Amino acid sequence: MPDDNDRPWWQGAVIYQIYPRSFLDTDGDGVGDLEGIRRRLPYLAELGIDAIWLSPFYRSPMADFGYDVADHTDVDPLFGDLDDARRLVREAHDHGVRVVVDFVPNHTSDRHEWFADARSSPSAVHRDWYVWVDGEPTTPPNRWMSAFTGGPAWTWDEPNARWYLHLFLPEQPDVDWRNPEVVAAMHDVLRFWLDLGVDGFRIDVAHLIGKDIPLGPDVPDPEPAPLTHELMRQIRRLVDSYPGDRMTVGEVYIMSTRAVAEFYGQGDELHLSFNFPPLYAPFEAAAWRKRIDRVVEELDPIGAWPTWVLSNHDNPRHRTRYGSADKARAAALLLLGLRGTPFLYAGEELGLSDAAIPPERVVDPGGRDGCRAPIPWDGEPAHGWAGADPWLPWPPEAAVGHAAAQEGDADSFLHLYRRAMTARRASPALHHGSFTWLDARPACWRGNGGPTTIAASWW
Ligand code: NOJ
Repeated sequence: MPDDNDRPWWQGAVIYQIYPRSFLDTDGDGVGDLEGIRRRLPYLAELGIDAIWLSPFYRSPMADFGYDVADHTDVDPLFGDLDDARRLVREAHDHGVRVVVDFVPNHTSDRHEWFADARSSPSAVHRDWYVWVDGEPTTPPNRWMSAFTGGPAWTWDEPNARWYLHLFLPEQPDVDWRNPEVVAAMHDVLRFWLDLGVDGFRIDVAHLIGKDIPLGPDVPDPEPAPLTHELMRQIRRLVDSYPGDRMTVGEVYIMSTRAVAEFYGQGDELHLSFNFPPLYAPFEAAAWRKRIDRVVEELDPIGAWPTWVLSNHDNPRHRTRYGSADKARAAALLLLGLRGTPFLYAGEELGLSDAAIPPERVVDPGGRDGCRAPIPWDGEPAHGWAGADPWLPWPPEAAVGHAAAQEGDADSFLHLYRRAMTARRASPALHHGSFTWLDARPACWRGNGGPTTIAASWW
């Protein structure tokens, strides 16, 4: 086994996802900001994470809360400005914390100047940067559905008398990566953030940027085309051309670990890929054993480095899904003891559950508000936030389970996560070791991680 120092940082790392809107508000508008993240850097360093991944903080009309980007190289005023971004990256590095930012390549906002230009005239410079199809206003070009509306993935653009494609909201038109000008522009976006000093990218909808777009009534759902792999190789070359082990982690939202493995290429595509089937598995020993085995079978032989994730901004938190604090704690140990790179979702280290969202406070078209509740930092009425009224309701643990209370309780989730990460860091077996299955009671999972045996059980 190579020495730890010979490995890229992202293999031994624990990466912590921050949803900026929900982390900490410092200017009193009820929405978290980059300054709020900066102020919590000492907390993050003490927690023991190695890197933060920031969900989008770019200029956006917020139809999809930032995943509808109107300017890829500027910060939305809600979150601060570019100087705040530079300062955050610099000070994170001073704390030994790397910074990974979200790259949203599949679509832009309909308010992006590229799209505004594209729809302005048939001869517009950006006309072919999006996917337009002629036809009849009554018949969408194929049966693809938009992810959040339940309606067609196509919108008829009246002034142009043409359809445009949007796999997500109508406010998120898909760009056309078959166009080399799009590729060049998106590469410039990557260079901008690499030059600013970020350590890598989480790539949104990575698997679908290069898609075939068959027309007609009987076409399959969108599928990755060979072009996606070529585009991933180009991005890999660009990212690797920078010094300092920059990395990419792709949101490969496919429920097959074998398909996920393909996105590592021959070690020349993504550095890391999310593998979501375990996130959707019930917290039962047999189901998880199967998921772990699938990773060992599909990723190990091709030298692809696994990732593990229990919670994120698109799904109910794992404590909510599993239904108990004990299971959430057992799952934390499992996550932090598996070979591969774990991703934590901010607030997971506090054992937060989803907030209950009354109908009048629902804001997300995709029904994901509960897991995006603000993080309660202390026991004051505003829980450390500058304004008393954040954009979403507090999670149920806010009154007694806020971060400050957990600091003082050695048995809290916060201390459990800290201890688990300290142990993980100290033992290569807990992040790099292979393991073998040991016999155990049926409701019990037990793996031998090399010199250290870890066991997690739940029933
Ligand atoms: C995946 C992101 O995680 C999700 O939040 C977003 O809505 C879609 N991609 C569209 O960008």
